[in-house]
Amino acid sequence: MTTLTNIARKRVAILISGRGSNMMSLVEAAGAADFPVEIVCVISNRPDAAGLAWAKTKGLRALAIDHKTYASREAFEADLQRALDEHKVELVALAGFMRLMTPSFVNRWHNRMINIHPSLLPSFKGLHTHEAAIAAGVKIAGCTVHFVRAELDTGPIIAQAAVPVLTSDTAADLGARVLAAEHRIYPYALRLVATGQATVNGDIVVLDQSIKHDPGLFSPAVNVVSTVQSQRKA
Ligand code: GRF
Repeated sequence: MTTLTNIARKRVAILISGRGSNMMSLVEAAGAADFPVEIVCVISNRPDAAGLAWAKTKGLRALAIDHKTYASREAFEADLQRALDEHKVELVALAGFMRLMTPSFVNRWHNRMINIHPSLLPSFKGLHTHEAAIAAGVKIAGCTVHFVRAELDTGPIIAQAAVPVLTSDTAADLGARVLAAEHRIYPYALRLVATGQATVNGDIVVLDQSIKHDPGLFSPAVNVVSTVQSQRKA
């Protein structure tokens, strides 16, 4: 049986600004004995973030670094970096972290910082993605996990999940459907990065050959397909 001690676990910090439902999905995934990640701290730039309170109830190191108390973005990031160093963080996962980062900070974490965005990038960057998707009349929406680059919502794509857009959808309806997909895809993508099965080559993520590209609305889809199959057999 796999135990917590016999797999290599990457030290991960999760950065949030709000309710933290994606953080919760990562924390829950990291509770599995075979998940190759240890969540060593949760950091919020907003002291009142609901997700921070939740992290504390789980016994996680939960820190507030209030950006409003800093004179500059650089000064805020210097303290953020100090906290990451202190916790010997190897990978950073942004989960609804609503602060723009300087190119210098982003470059420091090149290929070691990932983000989840509620659209099928490169479509619908920025805020209000669900309103924009409905206004554009797209029939498929979704979410993307990607490595972070200095330009907002760009960077090599690790995984994407697609969901249908229904004629009756409000932005809230679509947002809820996309969020459920986010909670599935983020732990999966973090696992790929932590194990080294997803690596960056130029602007593209290359996946280990053991990852099969099954057709489907979740890509890479192999894990989800096998989960669904095993549920059907049960
Ligand atoms: C998610 O939709 C995520 O994709 C975006 O911000 C939202 C955060 O939600 N970056 P939560 O705080 O994880 O619930």
